Amino acid sequence: MSTEKAKTMSEEQAFMDRNLALEVVRVTEAAALAASKLVGRGDKVAADQVAVDAMRDALNSLHIKGRIVIGEGERDEAPMLYIGEEVGDGKGPEIDIALDPLEGTDITARGGNNALAVVAMTDKGGFLNAPDTYMEKIAVGPGIDPNILDLDAPIGDVLAKLAKEKGGSVNDLNVCVLDRPRHDDIIQGVREAGARISLIGDGDVSAVIATAEPDTGIDLYVGTGGAPEGVLGAAALQCIGGSMLGRLVFRNDTEIARAEKWGISDLKAIYTTDDLAKGDNVMFAATGVTDGTMLRGVRRYPGGAKTSTIVMRSKSGTVRRVEATHNLERKDWLKSI
Ligand code: FBP
Repeated sequence: MSTEKAKTMSEEQAFMDRNLALEVVRVTEAAALAASKLVGRGDKVAADQVAVDAMRDALNSLHIKGRIVIGEGERDEAPMLYIGEEVGDGKGPEIDIALDPLEGTDITARGGNNALAVVAMTDKGGFLNAPDTYMEKIAVGPGIDPNILDLDAPIGDVLAKLAKEKGGSVNDLNVCVLDRPRHDDIIQGVREAGARISLIGDGDVSAVIATAEPDTGIDLYVGTGGAPEGVLGAAALQCIGGSMLGRLVFRNDTEIARAEKWGISDLKAIYTTDDLAKGDNVMFAATGVTDGTMLRGVRRYPGGAKTSTIVMRSKSGTVRRVEATHNLERKDWLKSI
């Protein structure tokens, strides 16, 4: 290939990447708008379904040859946005997609905080094919030496190193943990070390991202949550800065078989941010469904709604916040929900 032609192609690629990063906002907005109609209605399945339907339609309008890597589940259990499903018009660049149309189904059903519609994209092969199991995770924001992260060391030791990195004391640190009995030891360890804790009911994608956003006051995220959510959190950190470690947790042979099916042979592997979401072509977008630490939720009013979205690219490191006003009278697909 001539140098000129290669240059033109890479310019074209850059142009498409940039456009896609803005197009992807429509995808998360669509899912969030759909789910917002069911906030607090006590039906998490219905809320998830409308988000899935809306996200799928929006993805199919993109000029990409997309393949779902992290989705709603395996084909036999998820009729839409299943792992391996192809989306987009099939004509553009080959893109791998990790998504969660409604991250925080319970939150949405209860009308709680921090529910998001999330999509990440990268080049083919860039995301870990994480099975739908749990994952131990530990994450910090940018400017911190990733080597202080350790999934096996006592949490007090990690906090001592983090305090040193930040130039303060452990008492200044705030650690975010999912409020689950399985985290009793971690919670006790953090308290004994003298740090503060933010216990959250659900939603560890936004908790991982919170470590990279100084305004949230979260210094470290630690604990076990969903493995697919681990890939999404890592994709965001790859763009915004920060680092994370993850290790899959298996509760039974079925889960092990699922991991092996997706090509995971080392069941005890510890994955870095790069292993989870590789490279400099990662894009991440999230739209708030309900109010949260990072984003406002959908604000609905007669005939319209406002959405808040964050979108970022690893290549440039640019983080954009998009505030959109939607005229729902002109969105036919929303009227039927
Ligand atoms: P859903 O959107 O699937 O309900 O996930 C919410 C969530 O809190 C995730 O953020 C987290 O990774 C996972 O559930 C934790 O799982 P569990 O509720 O089983 O502890």
